[in-house]
Amino acid sequence: MRVVIESLGAEETAREVEALSALLEDAVEHGASVGFLPPMAADEARVYWRTVVAALREGTRVLLVARDAAGAVVGTAQLDLATRPNARHRAEVMKVMVHTKARRQGIGRTLMRVLEEHARRRGRTTLVLDTRRGDHAERLYTDVGWTLAGVIPTYARSADGRLDPSAFYYKLVEGGTP
Ligand SMILES: CC(C)(COP(=O)(O)OP(=O)(O)OC[C@H]1O[C@@H](n2cnc3c(N)ncnc32)[C@H](O)[C@@H]1OP(=O)(O)O)[C@@H](O)C(=O)NCCC(=O)NCCS
Repeated sequence: MRVVIESLGAEETAREVEALSALLEDAVEHGASVGFLPPMAADEARVYWRTVVAALREGTRVLLVARDAAGAVVGTAQLDLATRPNARHRAEVMKVMVHTKARRQGIGRTLMRVLEEHARRRGRTTLVLDTRRGDHAERLYTDVGWTLAGVIPTYARSADGRLDPSAFYYKLVEGGTP
């Protein structure tokens, strides 16, 4: 599937809250470990995206969306820009999600590549992320050059009540100092 990747500002994101909420709900309903548990409450996704709008307004977040040929949002990813004085070279990749109907067509990989370009342009050269151990996302991250730092057991709760391990990854992008 050919997609266009866009970086959205706060106002554009506010206009896309419904589409982004549908994407988050689709991921959670299909078992993704992205901070929420099914069934999501009616307004839970919208409330979350409004916090992203606020972070975009503050300038501490980068939000990407992938649009299909018809302009529909089929994927998204974020970069949370660390704000502490000793961490302004750092950013966390979060909420990488592709709609279940659009998966396995390279959209996740494209989102990660473009997110990395945004990080580099902002001088964010140490990138971190975490994801549930064993999820397909791990394969995506290692494919695009991320390194496993370690695994923390009992990190996040799953829909069935279990506490699952999370894998913590990092990537030093060009210009980053080890
Ligand atoms: C993880 C996710 C974003 C991948 O998106 P995607 O667009 O399907 O990924 P891509 O098509 O770019 O796949 C890139 C690589 O990841 C791996 N991969 C992705 N999905 C896979 C699957 N279902 N089975 C095996 N490998 C898979 C493969 O190595 C793949 O490369 P290949 O197709 O050349 O073999 C998507 O599955 C998703 O939204 N999952 C739910 C949300 C989530 O868990 N996000 C991560 C939390 S931080």
